[in-house]
Amino acid sequence: MTTSVPVDVRDRESEDTGDTGPRDVGETLLEVDDLAVEFRGDDGVVRAVDGLGYRVVAGRTLALVGESGCGKSVSSLAVMGLLPPAARVTRGSARFRGTDLLALPPARHREHCGRHVAMVFQDALAALNPVHTVGYQLTEALRARTGASRRDARRRAVELLDLVKVPHAAQRVHEYPHQFSGGMRQRVMIASALALDPDVLIADEPTTALDVTVQAQVMQLLAEIQAERNMGLVLITHDLGVVAGVADDVTVMYAGRAVEQAPVRELYEAPAHPYTRALLRSVPRLAGGGTDADGRLPVVPGRPPAPGRVPSGCAFHPRCDLARDVCRTDVPPLAEAAPGRSSACHFSAEVLGGARG
Ligand SMILES: Nc1ncnc2c1ncn2[C@@H]1O[C@H](COP(=O)(O)OP(=O)(O)OP(=O)(O)O)[C@@H](O)[C@H]1O
Ligand code: SF4
Ligand SMILES: [Mg+2]
Repeated sequence: MTTSVPVDVRDRESEDTGDTGPRDVGETLLEVDDLAVEFRGDDGVVRAVDGLGYRVVAGRTLALVGESGCGKSVSSLAVMGLLPPAARVTRGSARFRGTDLLALPPARHREHCGRHVAMVFQDALAALNPVHTVGYQLTEALRARTGASRRDARRRAVELLDLVKVPHAAQRVHEYPHQFSGGMRQRVMIASALALDPDVLIADEPTTALDVTVQAQVMQLLAEIQAERNMGLVLITHDLGVVAGVADDVTVMYAGRAVEQAPVRELYEAPAHPYTRALLRSVPRLAGGGTDADGRLPVVPGRPPAPGRVPSGCAFHPRCDLARDVCRTDVPPLAEAAPGRSSACHFSAEVLGGARG
């Protein structure tokens, strides 16, 4: 498939160890290609992810955007080797510095991710154990993963809380999760994900449970850490408004596939896919609009399809105001719509031209 993130791509094909090394800005760290994931259930098999590809680059933030159910979390769990038992990868690869993580035996896959690719999970706030102090939880996790002594792990836990700007970290390690605000608990989860200095951090909806001001602070923190450490950051969200200030590149997903990929500024200025255009219109402060006459926030009209009930041709066609006959029969491939960007729409050029005009 075509990925369109405009980067200085260095050839690391010959590497098969995926071992650590300095991260150079512009280096491709993780390359997901043609990923497909299926769930087996009582009603048969449903495909939750169907041919997703994206590229994560050192020193850049990639936003993975799409409505609920489009496969953002499932695709990330597949990359991490953490799919639930009912799910399996049926196609594709996820190469970390040339090593296909999906081709490794499960234990090596998780071990490899433990060192190089970390994830802040969507339900992270629920993951802290209420009966242990935050310091104990960070320390035990560090010891399990590194074999560090208790004293070293404790020191590292305080350093990590400092890194994520938890004030008075040395005192706060002795406190319990309920003594932390939602935003501070999320910082603890980010600290835990950063413990082994990952090359790539996947943050799955890291701020949705937080109020707007705290959301902005946590986003800012992630952006700072990403830049300081030259990490590749994958930021998962359903809100294009959230990514405006922090992402470099955007992959828009619909029904398990990437439908548009572009650098953030180009995508916001002139979307090349009708779905992106509709998502942008649903973000009032970007669209320059606001609430409608009834005081409601605009949303993308219609609903996304359930996996297993994906429409023929272009999956977006029942909701698309540009749909024509060919859209009902032919799946549009993800193809270059302009230099450095791609779109899966039979009429990308028209959409792009209209947006620019
Ligand atoms: N445990 C499961 N069993 C069966 N199907 C599942 C399961 N988890 C997810 N799915 C299916 O996979 C699809 C993708 O789910 P996923 O959680 O990746 O969506 P998402 O894009 O992360 O949505 P959200 O924005 O709500 O987090 C869903 O539509 C759902 O039907
Ligand atoms: S292929 Fe057709 S239905 Fe799909 S987004 Fe483009 S115009 Fe709309
Ligand atoms: Mg999700």
